[in-house]
Amino acid sequence: MPVDIAKRSDGNYDTHFYAGQDEIGKDGVLRIAKAYRQKVAYPDFLPAWNPNEKYPPLEFHKFEDPGLRADPSFPNLLNGKVTLKPITPKLGTEIKGLQLTQLSDAAKDELALLIAQRGVVILEDQDFVDKGPGYAEEYGRHFGKLHIHQTSGAPEGHSHLHVTFRRPDRTEFNRVFRDKTTSIGFHTDVSYELQPAGYTFFAQLEGPESGGDTLFADTIEAFERLSPHFQEYLSTLHVIHSSKEQAFNSKSNGGIQRRAPVTHIHPLVRVHPVLKKKSLFVNRSFSRRIVELKTPESDLLLDFLYSLVENSHDLQLRARWGPRTVAVWDNRRLQHSASVDWEDPVTRHNVRITPQGERPVEDLKYLNDPTYFPHRDEEEEEDDDRVVYSKY
Ligand code: SIN
Repeated sequence: MPVDIAKRSDGNYDTHFYAGQDEIGKDGVLRIAKAYRQKVAYPDFLPAWNPNEKYPPLEFHKFEDPGLRADPSFPNLLNGKVTLKPITPKLGTEIKGLQLTQLSDAAKDELALLIAQRGVVILEDQDFVDKGPGYAEEYGRHFGKLHIHQTSGAPEGHSHLHVTFRRPDRTEFNRVFRDKTTSIGFHTDVSYELQPAGYTFFAQLEGPESGGDTLFADTIEAFERLSPHFQEYLSTLHVIHSSKEQAFNSKSNGGIQRRAPVTHIHPLVRVHPVLKKKSLFVNRSFSRRIVELKTPESDLLLDFLYSLVENSHDLQLRARWGPRTVAVWDNRRLQHSASVDWEDPVTRHNVRITPQGERPVEDLKYLNDPTYFPHRDEEEEEDDDRVVYSKY
């Protein structure tokens, strides 16, 4: 039974270039319209899309988790001036009295451990973004090899950053709700990559006075809510994740494609290398089907798992944003969603730094093993008659 994946999930596409709304420069580079460019607080971080920028497929690399290097008593990160406030008992911490820019390498390792333990940490009024895009890229490299996004906007000359930019007009707002009744779309960033995102930085440059919160959901807690029997069964399954719809959406709006789209198979249940705990690794934006099951079985099970994560408010939190707030989360453990809930046209401008983590594994004995569950390439896909991929 074929599955036409082009008719399924939206592939999380709403931060792309939009022909008709944005501009194509004389140099061929796609940019936000000048009227909006002139208004922003952080022009160095404006997104641009260069159609000539092309990259080869990403390759496997060994990932050394900075959290595993950390001293668990946090002597470098936490001192007398730093306060930690839990947002919920199990998830999320607000850190006060600390500037990210002041951290030593040892303190950054401890920050990674704290993020793994708490899922997400939130720091207000950071001077981080004032140091510019080059600084942000260099900072992120401490936490892993930086990801270059296949389609999203990046500051010119800084392709390793990912910019989300909500234009201050009704068209932006209407587009979000054109086909949907909610702006909520939980996902794990770039789960389709061989080595998806690990520790992820997201900084607000500008945003609405209230609203535009980011929602987070804990997939370790979601896994632990299930019965042991069901946990055991899920731990035997694998899932196809795809970037093809996101690529298609970018192209069809006049946007770019920096790398050929990919699909990869990951375990449905992955083990966290620092916490040694299991989490559910499926998300509505990029997961497509469970390899071992028939299509209706896969659809039913995926829907149940998405719903568990998205609708269990007691394993979630809402992060509120102020000027220069930075949130750092563990993409291996959390799903997140933007929320578009403001009324007046307003600019919402954020920058993401996306260090890649390890290749997800179902057992830590496979961690950093390049031969583990050989990944699916384009040729293998063509031979798989259970999945029909649109050609574009
Ligand atoms: C995202 O959805 O990937 C970013 C989160 C946000 O914009 O709040």
